[in-house]
Amino acid sequence: MTESIKKLDVHSRLMLHRTARKDVAGGISVIVKGEGVRVFDENGASYIDLEAGGTRPVHAGYGRTELARAGYDQMCEMAYFTPMGFANVPAMKLADKLADITPPGIDRFIFECDGSEAVETAMKLAKHYHYYRGDKGRFKVVSRRGAYHGVNGIGVRALGIVMPMRQLMEPLAPGAAFIESPYCYRCRHNLSYPACDLACARELERVIEFEGPEQISIFIGEPIQQGFGAYRPPPEYWPVIREICDRYSILLVIDEVICGFGRTGRMFATEHFDLRPDLMTMAKGLTSGYLPLGAVGCTDAVVEPVELLNHLHTYGNHPVSCAVALKNLEILENEELIENSATMGRYFLDGLNTLGHHPSVGEVRGTGLWLAIDFTVDKKSRTPFPLQNLMSIIARAKRKGILVKTMGMALEFAPPLTISTEDIDEVIPILDACIHEEEKAMGLLK
Ligand SMILES: Cc1ncc(COP(=O)(O)O)c(C=O)c1O
Repeated sequence: MTESIKKLDVHSRLMLHRTARKDVAGGISVIVKGEGVRVFDENGASYIDLEAGGTRPVHAGYGRTELARAGYDQMCEMAYFTPMGFANVPAMKLADKLADITPPGIDRFIFECDGSEAVETAMKLAKHYHYYRGDKGRFKVVSRRGAYHGVNGIGVRALGIVMPMRQLMEPLAPGAAFIESPYCYRCRHNLSYPACDLACARELERVIEFEGPEQISIFIGEPIQQGFGAYRPPPEYWPVIREICDRYSILLVIDEVICGFGRTGRMFATEHFDLRPDLMTMAKGLTSGYLPLGAVGCTDAVVEPVELLNHLHTYGNHPVSCAVALKNLEILENEELIENSATMGRYFLDGLNTLGHHPSVGEVRGTGLWLAIDFTVDKKSRTPFPLQNLMSIIARAKRKGILVKTMGMALEFAPPLTISTEDIDEVIPILDACIHEEEKAMGLLK
């Protein structure tokens, strides 16, 4: 097996998503097996996966034969049929199940292939809602600088991140407006909470007035935001946003693609804020990554005026993915993995807090099993930490058997929800050593 993998040449045939040529040249690991919270590469090296598959979907952990069996059984029974004009049993059951566990009011669902498609569909559905109500001029989307909502056509419009991913695709469809993100550690308004009076949320009203209230379709945001490393806004943030959206008849789309299905210690992160969205996007933990699936949920009020949703994906409402999602939700519930996310999240956070003595550890934060260390070269001024040094910490961690990644100036942690205290006890000293070694190399130690 290993021999045959070595003969495969990553350079010549396979294109890798968002991977620079120089990184391929530097050597790419081929991951061949997963078990619990660990993955193994083609050389047999084992890693504790603190990113649940890198893009963080693997909530139930690796090697779940029950999920494989659910997919197999559904393929044997009925593998595929069009979502246009026909329904299928797993999709209907999954919609029913999601109605039970999503915030009150979110009762209607449609399934797509991934998070980007879910965001795309939510934006289209919102546009349909306004259109059928006779509000045909609403096409603008307000998002946040620092946001990520996927890579598809309309969704790219809401990408608040400044990086080639967005710039390369410009000019984008018109209608993108942005406000600052709630990132109190390095507040873009140079204010401090709570004296700021939530300036970052109140900015929404100014942008709406500037853009023209009658032209705005939605505001979109993650309840806890990935862009700066698992950033949780102050408790008043979402109530302010909700109130402004209501006042201007703008639909509030909450993107739970990462947060959903237990990542933050609750089934959905909206629960931390008692937030009632009009539309909600989901993916990743919905199937624990075993098959591609994204979902949009919305209120009856959003669907009610829409005579026909002019939208179709061949793999919409896919029965096999929906069957796997149902089994995955059963596992999350039966094994109390949402509760484990809350408990292990607190334990992990305590562990990370012991690293606070390092001169470069600026802020440690986390909600459930979505945590981050925000780095700085100067704790007082919170001066940004060079990305190359963060990357070097990640490389050190990989050599010592743990997989982590960056988000903004932070190291981010989002392990499978099955992680145990023993795993966390193994990880903390390794992180401690990696940070120490990097600080020493940078000359930060006195
Ligand atoms: C908040 C958010 N929305 C949407 C997406 C896009 O999802 P996908 O990569 O499944 O297309 C992502 C992906 O990371 C995400 O984090």
